[in-house]
Amino acid sequence: MFNKVYISDRVFWIGVNDRRKRLFENIWPLPEGVSYNSYIIVDEKTALIDTVDVTAGKCFLDTVDKYLAGKTLDYLVINHIEPDHSGEIAGILKKYPEVKILGNAATKRIFEACFGATSNFEDVGKGAVVKLGHHELSFVMTPWVHWPETMMTVDLTEKIVFSGDAFGTFGTLNGGIFDDEVNFEFYRDEALRYYSNIVGKYSNMVQKAIAKLAGTEIRCICPTHGPVWRKDPQKIIDLYNKWSRYEAEDGLLIIYASMYGNTEMMADYIARKVAEKGVRNIRIYDVSKTHISYLIREAWKYRNIFLGSCAYNTGMFPLIDHLCCELEHLGLQNRRLGIFGSFSWNGGGVKNLVKFAENIKWELIAEPVEIKGIPSDEDFRKCDALAEALV
Ligand code: FEO
Repeated sequence: MFNKVYISDRVFWIGVNDRRKRLFENIWPLPEGVSYNSYIIVDEKTALIDTVDVTAGKCFLDTVDKYLAGKTLDYLVINHIEPDHSGEIAGILKKYPEVKILGNAATKRIFEACFGATSNFEDVGKGAVVKLGHHELSFVMTPWVHWPETMMTVDLTEKIVFSGDAFGTFGTLNGGIFDDEVNFEFYRDEALRYYSNIVGKYSNMVQKAIAKLAGTEIRCICPTHGPVWRKDPQKIIDLYNKWSRYEAEDGLLIIYASMYGNTEMMADYIARKVAEKGVRNIRIYDVSKTHISYLIREAWKYRNIFLGSCAYNTGMFPLIDHLCCELEHLGLQNRRLGIFGSFSWNGGGVKNLVKFAENIKWELIAEPVEIKGIPSDEDFRKCDALAEALV
């Protein structure tokens, strides 16, 4: 039976869940899946806001049809044209050839590269208001959250913000679609993994987007991924605000690379010393075992980060090198760093971690500790300085 999901009398959620895809953007694991949220407004005129990924949307066009109930589709709003949201645009254009596309100048460039030239495109990037009847739509330009064309659509009538990737999360919608129907603890870590890996590089633009929304009355936030926020939209705004300001928790994150266990012994020793000094929330990860997306999430979570690496071909261990490159690329700021590592016949791990510290401009809280071979009692005592500096 067709079960409509009401956001208000004339506004509906029309998304799909993807539990099949293993890697989002062919890189980020999806153990809990992901939803692609589309929305439809059925007023005197009708508007579809974003579509869904083509791999997950086999019934999507039929569902659009059911909501329209004999009406045609007047507008397709493209808040974000990345293929996880534009996958069904070709199907929409084929089915509703007269549909007017609403986007901005950057949207148009990408649209034409993907779907060909069109005379049905309306640029709403400069203060346009589109009247559907009862509902009126305005548009807030939020470039780089997450692509250059990204914008948000505001339903002025119902105070609903269709926010694109902003305020989204990994994790499918498992029956519950609204924030008051789900346990957010299921989403909390995946929301941060989504933020840090997908949107985090553009944190300054997230700040600008939040500032632009400051004067807007918001009753409900409808992102393109994850729950719809109708009970407490401020909750997800506050989280995105915190993450995009690089605010972090106390505690200690240790990530190490170790081939034969010497650097690992240092990690465990340091963690024990830090715990003895009363620090709680200590997390240790072996870089070879945990996917980088989780390590990036943890780096976004903790203020204090200790990185350890053995030497590998006169450099860092390749996987921690990769992690450092990504952290630098993402521009994570305001972290306190400790460095340690070991080598057998030549250095390279610690030396290159120090270069990373200089490049990323994190505060180095103590002299790096580098040891040769299996750590001796004297070597462990050198590690004490790192634990002491932390607390
Ligand atoms: Fe959900 Fe940037 O696409």
